[in-house]
Amino acid sequence: MTKRIGFTIFAIMCISIGLYPLVYFLMERTFGLLGSKSDVVLSDVFWNIGFYTHILLGGLALLIGWMQFSKKLRAKNLKLHRAIGKVYTISVLFSGLASLYIAYFATGGIVPMLGFMGLGLVWLYSTTLGYMAIKKGQVNKHQKFMIYSYAACFAAVTLRIWLPLLTMAFQEFLIAYKIVAWLCWVPNIIVAYFVVKRLGLSNA
Ligand code: HEM
Repeated sequence: MTKRIGFTIFAIMCISIGLYPLVYFLMERTFGLLGSKSDVVLSDVFWNIGFYTHILLGGLALLIGWMQFSKKLRAKNLKLHRAIGKVYTISVLFSGLASLYIAYFATGGIVPMLGFMGLGLVWLYSTTLGYMAIKKGQVNKHQKFMIYSYAACFAAVTLRIWLPLLTMAFQEFLIAYKIVAWLCWVPNIIVAYFVVKRLGLSNA
């Protein structure tokens, strides 16, 4: 029962933040992060392609990825698990590469830039290894790396929990942003490490 409630809360968080990028298409071009960007960045074609590719496909990955951890769904419909997995992997590939590019222009300079680039690299690396493992039939290795991959993806959720708390604590957005670019994902990867260990997948 507790497990079920936990999974439901997890799913709700993933779905709501997964849908959040759509708000950028409903609001003015000054919404959210766009309000902090210079006219030079906002009019840069490559940055815009990178930004919208990143938020749309990142949103899609987050929206569908949580389902892959349902044992019931995997047992009931392996075909669906495979289809969602392919869409997730392709979305991560494009969103992750785009994130590395837009990270270069991150608000707040080198500290958030390196934080987001580190996250992007972990996301791309773990997803690629997870996908390659299942192509070779290595189920345990696949599970291990996909846990790391989704822990990285889940940074989109944890960032939006930490950021308002840090902004309140420091009374300054930029300090909070520099911290959150790291805090949104490093603890997630540590949690993933212990989940992998508990499942006995460490040496997979
Ligand atoms: C896991 C790897 C991810 C990395 C490395 C990453 C990186 C970034 C970077 C560098 C920015 C721009 C920051 C700036 O210019 O200051 C950004 C913004 C954004 N990202 Fe991601 N991101 C990731 C995952 C996701 C996911 C899964 C979503 C899905 C919701 C997402 C949604 C957004 C949105 C909506 C913004 C605009 C800022 C906002 O409104 O909060 N990102 N991301």
